[in-house]
Amino acid sequence: MQLIDGKKISTEIKAEIARTVAEMVEAGKKRPHLAAILVGHDGGSETYVAHKVKACEECGFKSTLIRFEDDVTEQTLLDAIEKLNNDPDVDGFIVQLPLPRHISEQRIIEAIDYRKDVDGFHPINVGRMSIGLPTFLSATPAGIIELLRRYDIPTRGKRCVVLGRSNIVGKPVAMLMMQKAQPGDATVTVCHSATENLKEICREADIIIAALGSPGFVTEDMVKPGATIIDVGTTRVPDSTRKSGFRLRGDVDFDNVAEKCSFITPVPGGVGPMTIVSLMRNTLLAAQGAVYPEN
Ligand code: GUN
Repeated sequence: MQLIDGKKISTEIKAEIARTVAEMVEAGKKRPHLAAILVGHDGGSETYVAHKVKACEECGFKSTLIRFEDDVTEQTLLDAIEKLNNDPDVDGFIVQLPLPRHISEQRIIEAIDYRKDVDGFHPINVGRMSIGLPTFLSATPAGIIELLRRYDIPTRGKRCVVLGRSNIVGKPVAMLMMQKAQPGDATVTVCHSATENLKEICREADIIIAALGSPGFVTEDMVKPGATIIDVGTTRVPDSTRKSGFRLRGDVDFDNVAEKCSFITPVPGGVGPMTIVSLMRNTLLAAQGAVYPEN
């Protein structure tokens, strides 16, 4: 069994990005600038956004964090988005999800100028991804593909089972895994809460991508010997031995599954760091005008 070290790979990629940024600045270009909108004080969102701001520093980017309280109106958020859309200094921006229930996430996502949508959530970017056009790939799926690439894990013709059908991970990663590309070219099955014979389907998989948010869901009896396991889960579970009072737990029963497979991502330190690095890469692409040159 080989551990897929997302932390190590992400550190390497951030160093690559930082070198490119240094060259850009040397050549008289402006620093890439990522802005983030954070609503409320959800612990997970606070942590994610803090990591994104730190990653910007490591890559040599400028970053701006715009905060609103939980009771912000949808219109105020839409106005903030409009300002960022029109700010020539901002290359890309994100609105951290989830949002409070009184705000329509879809309306917010569609208000973002797709040319600055470095999360890759806008329907134009999702559509472009699904037909294989250059676009901002959403961060977690892109991070998973990059891990498969850097560990030389064969995907062509392999059976890939995706657990979960979210817009952020399950659907886009399934799309990328089936794309005529390397990594890609896999035979993909997407399983969800209504799937029958889920265990049997998983047992056929050469690659399992677990993105359900259900701690320890993938057990040893669901895994074919030698399979590759990508764990996207990051659920906070109570842990009185930690200062924070919780620890992160993945969707895979790591202790029992690890010995059975050929490659596996740990939680934390697997997919998580790669998600953030994919956002950094998208921001660099936005600053370079690499996806939408007319912008
Ligand atoms: N919430 C969970 N993952 C993400 C992400 O990749 N981007 C944003 N904006 N919010 C998230």
